[in-house]
Amino acid sequence: MTIDFTPATIHQLEPSDLVQEDRVAARVYTDPEIFEREMTQIFEKTWIWVAHESELPKPGSFKSTYVGRNSVIVTRDRKGAIHTLVNRCRHRGASLCEKPRGEANGFTCPYHAWSYGLDGRLRGIPYPDGYEGVMSKDEMGLHKLRTESYRGLIFATFDQDAEPLEEFLGDVRLWADRFFKQGGGYPLKVLGTHRFRFRGNWKIQLENTTDGYHFPIVHRSWMSSVDGETADMLSFMTDPASTCHDLGNGHSVMHMVPAHIDLDADDGSEPLQPRFDGLVAELREGGADDAQIRKLVRAMHGTGSNLNLFPNVGLSSAFFRVLRPVSVDETIIEHVALGVDAPEEIAGPIRRERLRIHEHFQGPFGFGTPDDAEGWDRVQRGAQACPEMPIMVNRGLKREADAPEGWATSHSTDETGMRAAYRMWKKMMSNG
Ligand code: FES
Ligand SMILES: [Fe+2]
Repeated sequence: MTIDFTPATIHQLEPSDLVQEDRVAARVYTDPEIFEREMTQIFEKTWIWVAHESELPKPGSFKSTYVGRNSVIVTRDRKGAIHTLVNRCRHRGASLCEKPRGEANGFTCPYHAWSYGLDGRLRGIPYPDGYEGVMSKDEMGLHKLRTESYRGLIFATFDQDAEPLEEFLGDVRLWADRFFKQGGGYPLKVLGTHRFRFRGNWKIQLENTTDGYHFPIVHRSWMSSVDGETADMLSFMTDPASTCHDLGNGHSVMHMVPAHIDLDADDGSEPLQPRFDGLVAELREGGADDAQIRKLVRAMHGTGSNLNLFPNVGLSSAFFRVLRPVSVDETIIEHVALGVDAPEEIAGPIRRERLRIHEHFQGPFGFGTPDDAEGWDRVQRGAQACPEMPIMVNRGLKREADAPEGWATSHSTDETGMRAAYRMWKKMMSNG
């Protein structure tokens, strides 16, 4: 059923009615009450990406992050198990950890020194005699989220009854497996993060990771700053092999470089880009063989796909793109650069080249992210006018077809991925 958005009804409609198959009312970007519901019905209900295992390399490693608006600490305990703990002391609620990452034996609250283990257990209370007969330490561990990982991607959820992570990911797993092939046989490793904030709703960024349509327009300056081979590689606008699949549960995958979808599928015909000649020589000197060099160099720009996981992470070409909603019109984005975990003779040159590519697009002086962010700011400013006027997500609606795997599929410039995400949004916002 189509419900009309009108100035008279727009503020009465339920959030779930604001999302239709081909359009979304602008109110979903601007209404603080909708934002509150999203935080509880989406961000505190489903699996949220919190870290990559390489960020917690040893027992005692930790990383601070957020699940929705809840500050959490992701830890690796002495036995190697990973925990996601709410960063809030059980005594009177002080935050326990203000460091972004590091190593610790546990966490001691700076206020009255209650101390907790890496697994969240309450280990010690100063002057414990006042607590005799009042409470037991066993009941006062840190609040713990369910935590599961897939291929080193760590997710956490507040919902103890959520479906297992692997079920939630479903067919995403195939594409995540392919994403990790860019390590050329070595594990991927987080190198560092560019972080920035924009004055706009989180869903604007969620849409953007699956938006191939804006690429040649917004990223014109980037396209003109790269060599011809790279520009050609990303000229997917009229390539029918460049597709987008709806993978279910709000997830989707969009391919910009179809030849790199599966980096193991290589008929040897694609020449390596001459800009990497120096890198090839260095890798050869470092002892890598030709087949391995070819794998690593072909993967320099990643997999040429954006795998968009609802609601907060994209495995985007060669990096992770993570979003954190702050308020209805404020969002933090992290672009997490990836390298390979290999002997230094190989990891070093690869790291240097990948970081240069990352800075060139994602960095604060890069050509890509500032242009995207300008577009997102403008969507938010524009959406303040006429909250009943729809945002269109109808591109390619009539040319969607089912892939043999059953995924609704259209061209990469179509809005199939956004429709997938909004369908999940609507489902989650309809409950309760
Ligand atoms: S608030 Fe943490 S020990 Fe008192
Ligand atoms: Fe972009």
